[in-house]
Amino acid sequence: MELFDVQRIREDFPILKKGIIYFDNAASSLTPEQVVQKVVEFYHEYRANVERGVHRLSQRASQEYEEAHETIAGFINAPSGENVAMMRNTTEGINFVANALDWRKGDKIVTTVIEHHSNYITWLRVGRRYGVEVEVVRSDSEGRFDLGDFEKVIDDRTRLVAVTKVSNVLGCIVPVEKIAEIAHEHSAYILVDGAQSIPHLKTDVKRMDVDFLAFSGHKMLGPTGSGGLYIRSELLYEVEPLCIGGGTIADVSLESYELARSPMRFEAGTPAIAQVIGLGEAVRYLERVGMGEVERHERRLTERLVEGLAEMEGVEIYGPRDPKDRLGIVSFNVKGMNPHDVALTLDVSAKIAVRSGHHCALPLMKELLGIPRGSVRASTYLYNTVEEVERFLGEMEDLIRAVK
Ligand code: ALA
Repeated sequence: MELFDVQRIREDFPILKKGIIYFDNAASSLTPEQVVQKVVEFYHEYRANVERGVHRLSQRASQEYEEAHETIAGFINAPSGENVAMMRNTTEGINFVANALDWRKGDKIVTTVIEHHSNYITWLRVGRRYGVEVEVVRSDSEGRFDLGDFEKVIDDRTRLVAVTKVSNVLGCIVPVEKIAEIAHEHSAYILVDGAQSIPHLKTDVKRMDVDFLAFSGHKMLGPTGSGGLYIRSELLYEVEPLCIGGGTIADVSLESYELARSPMRFEAGTPAIAQVIGLGEAVRYLERVGMGEVERHERRLTERLVEGLAEMEGVEIYGPRDPKDRLGIVSFNVKGMNPHDVALTLDVSAKIAVRSGHHCALPLMKELLGIPRGSVRASTYLYNTVEEVERFLGEMEDLIRAVK
């Protein structure tokens, strides 16, 4: 694909032919036909287990499975497929890290008020279980952090800093590279929740200099049940796998076991083979389009969404005022209306799919925005168009007129 051609891209997504405007991409993306076909190819041509057979089907499945790891690693500029353990989703990656470290009473974890529950309650649980202190850094209401606040709370007791790159509610982009520097000055690890960033922004784990980066394949054109965790090379043989068993060993005796090389040591049992191979294909699709193009296109859509909603009386928008500081996500409320009613009206009247509610970010909703019922959230991806944004804004105007 030479030029970014949204109409050409849309042809690859059969659901879009049903007249639906899909603005719920932050929850899960659509999947292009190429990815579906790659999954079908696995089932039709080489459906077998991986890393467990000398026969031709297993050999081919293993090769495709390993290639997918390499492709996904390349996409985030990780050194190799060894650095990417496949998970079901970002949540599993974060829980992996929570179980991978040997917590000691008195350790500290630093996280933030804008996190998704997966990157929040996981740490509260570690705190409860092991006597670890959890410190929460607050942002302003637009999701902007004062780096000085991280400098104040990250100290030599801090084992882990867990922070998102893009908020799933505010769409704000967090300077994780700078937070990583502060963490490393104190020999703390940094885990980044990449669920809302990797699908939309070019990602370079070397430049970010992070220790762990969790992401969801199903938010980046891949099959559901696909995702992964990047692990820094130095940590691959230090951290504990979440599960062990079949596939994770180099040797076992009556008394002992030796774990296999990475990533196999982290992928116990028969893995989600079709999903991983499908995610590899999704990454190839995004690479053909170009992540720079994806970002540029989405910035255009987000800018117009913010601008259009800001002009409407009775609409409150959350997150950065300056569209340059956010990507792909616009949360808002309509005065006097429950967010679920707004979402339902958009679906019934115009087949527009948005998410409504607390978006699994209650600390943010309650503490930062003071809206425990949550918000409506429109979120874009590469196949959305300016025309869809205009249609959505038109429907919003009608809805507001009707409730006045
Ligand atoms: N984490 C996804 C969202 O924010 C499910 O919608």
